[in-house]
Amino acid sequence: MKAAGGAIGVFDSGIGGLTVFRSIVEQLPGYNYLYLGDNGRAPYGNRSFNTIHQYTWECVQWMFKQGCPLVILACNTASAKALRTIQQHDLPNSPFADRRVLGVIRPTAEVIGDYTKSKHIGVLGTNGTVQSGSYVLEIEKFSPDINVHQQACPLWVPLIENGEYNKPGADHYVEMYLDELMQQSPDIDTILLACTHYPLLQEKIKAHLPANIKVVAQGDIVAASLADYLQRHPEMEQRLSRGANKKFYTTIDDTADFDRHASRFFADNVKSEYVDVREGC
Ligand code: DGL
Repeated sequence: MKAAGGAIGVFDSGIGGLTVFRSIVEQLPGYNYLYLGDNGRAPYGNRSFNTIHQYTWECVQWMFKQGCPLVILACNTASAKALRTIQQHDLPNSPFADRRVLGVIRPTAEVIGDYTKSKHIGVLGTNGTVQSGSYVLEIEKFSPDINVHQQACPLWVPLIENGEYNKPGADHYVEMYLDELMQQSPDIDTILLACTHYPLLQEKIKAHLPANIKVVAQGDIVAASLADYLQRHPEMEQRLSRGANKKFYTTIDDTADFDRHASRFFADNVKSEYVDVREGC
């Protein structure tokens, strides 16, 4: 039996996507959801294009097989490196051609220009996201007058995935990358957390910045964009099942850590299940 017929699938390389998932559930509480974290193979940030594409497509296919008509890549790295190939090549040539996959970069790029007065934005992301140049290209399309300053923060995701993000040792690494970003331009007045893991460091990030700099997380932006998408696509909306159920899956065999985070995010006793997404791929 399908684990999640008609559920909206939300995918991330690990626990970071829970920050987006929480906003989606808050804004669209009636639907059924399936969350998959590829914790067993995270971080994705330093991996090659081919590997990120392969892992992401394996996970997306697994979610389709569970019955998800729509999957959100709640991961900037996967959105930057795999989304276009999945949308343009993999999906049309697969048995899932009627399903849809959406990412987080375009909806964020559409609105980030509204946050800045100085027209200088800092974008913090993984190596993969920064090197792809996706944010520079996408923001240019919607707000050509904005200057985008990028900074990769490759040590942040390992800190977060290993549960070190709220410990004093994390401060050094937070400060290090923020200093590097701010040295690029003193005019930056808005910083986008362009990695779904980074909101877990948000308090530390804010503490290291002057109060006039806005720190923007993507969760609410992506959730509002999904609500808008479902309004514009009734044919997809009608395929979604309702019941406000949430199922959690992870590719790490020790599920306890994942459960602890998810339970905290959803103020609920979350029990995830281990899956091997490569079976049958
Ligand atoms: N959370 C992911 C993102 O938004 C990537 C983290 C990783 O696996 O490196 O980019």
